[in-house]
Amino acid sequence: MPFLRKEGVLCADDIPLSTIAGQVGTPCYVYCWSDIAARYQELESALGSVDARIRYAVKANSNLEVLRRLVELGAGFDIVSGGELERVIRAGATPSNVVFSGVGKSHQEISFALKAGIGCLNVESVAETYRIAEIAERLTITAPVAIRVNPDIDVDTHPYIATGMRENKFGMPETDAFQLAIEIANDLPYLEFVGLACHIGSQLTEIEPYEDSLDALIELRSRLLEEGVTCAVIDIGGGFGITYADEVPFSFTDLGELLSQRLLQDIEVDVEPGRSLVGGAGVLLTRVEYLKPATRTGYLDFCIVDAAMNDLIRPALYEAFHGVEKVNNTEGRKREWNIVGPICETGDFLATARPLAIQEGDLLAIRDVGAYGFVMSSNYNSRLRPAEVVIEGDSWTVARRRESMTDLLNLEEA
Ligand code: LLP
Repeated sequence: MPFLRKEGVLCADDIPLSTIAGQVGTPCYVYCWSDIAARYQELESALGSVDARIRYAVKANSNLEVLRRLVELGAGFDIVSGGELERVIRAGATPSNVVFSGVGKSHQEISFALKAGIGCLNVESVAETYRIAEIAERLTITAPVAIRVNPDIDVDTHPYIATGMRENKFGMPETDAFQLAIEIANDLPYLEFVGLACHIGSQLTEIEPYEDSLDALIELRSRLLEEGVTCAVIDIGGGFGITYADEVPFSFTDLGELLSQRLLQDIEVDVEPGRSLVGGAGVLLTRVEYLKPATRTGYLDFCIVDAAMNDLIRPALYEAFHGVEKVNNTEGRKREWNIVGPICETGDFLATARPLAIQEGDLLAIRDVGAYGFVMSSNYNSRLRPAEVVIEGDSWTVARRRESMTDLLNLEEA
């Protein structure tokens, strides 16, 4: 457990979160490195009996300090933009350990990736495949490509992050992937067909959809083999769920067992976990500014804090639940609060109906924000984005400083 109470104060490893807030200010993201490392190692050992490669999904948390430390653990990466490629390169990653996903790769991004020596481009359409072939030929670089399959699997998650249904923009049906793989192998000399990929959604707690998608890829692989097309890699994507409230997700061990049951020895399997490695390792520290009573009976009072939807958009965007705890466990009568930010929209809430004994000035920790927290933040309402701190044991470092007014206005000043 990365965040535990010591003498009543919520700590990250050995450091009271009140110390961090006192020195760095609020709002502030805090990541507990030992938890990320433990999750990484847990996944690595669960996948021990298969030829697996971990490609951390950078979009979940792209802080350079976090990426650098993941490089040291031996992680590869899954990226979705030129910006993410630049980040992993600066973090010291070897580009051949990086896969590039996404439906809309630009000319510039494809050239950048090929010149850098990307491990694989996961293609999602015929048009994209031809574009890559053209750029590869111009650069005289052979492009390693895998085809992202859309296996039409319904998953139980928020519709915005379900990606494996036919009506979603991602991947292509097995029949189209079959034709395209044959064309790549036989007719597009600057492309090297590496394998099949899929990613059916995010925050999935059941393992059955992975069984189905894996079976779909294995079946397609066999059909391709019959045509003389070899497929060295199967990439099952990420999406492994975590506990925010009372969800009981499948474990890394369950995943490892599934892969070792289903896969033959000669296949490399790639996994692209994001949230499951970093989600639980982060909190957002925020201070209570004002307490404001509801003016209509039957409604809850407002606890107005200094973090807002621009800092953490998941509650507003997905109605996502994040636990909220007081950092100092002071006594008081609990009652239910709607915890809201200063932004001028009613959608600006971080948590609803939370029973807490709160006073003005209290420090709160919003839990499980290590994934899709800071990375989705913005400057909406011209708010300065928060600092990010990485903690390990009894030491900590500001991994990204709080933005300043100069940062805010720099790109607009002549
Ligand atoms: N691979 C691909 C191709 C993906 O599109 C994603 C996430 C992942 C891997 C990593 O998924 P994870 O293991 O983190 O679930 N903003 C949303 C989540 C969007 C996920 C997008 N794709 C949220 O806050 O829940």
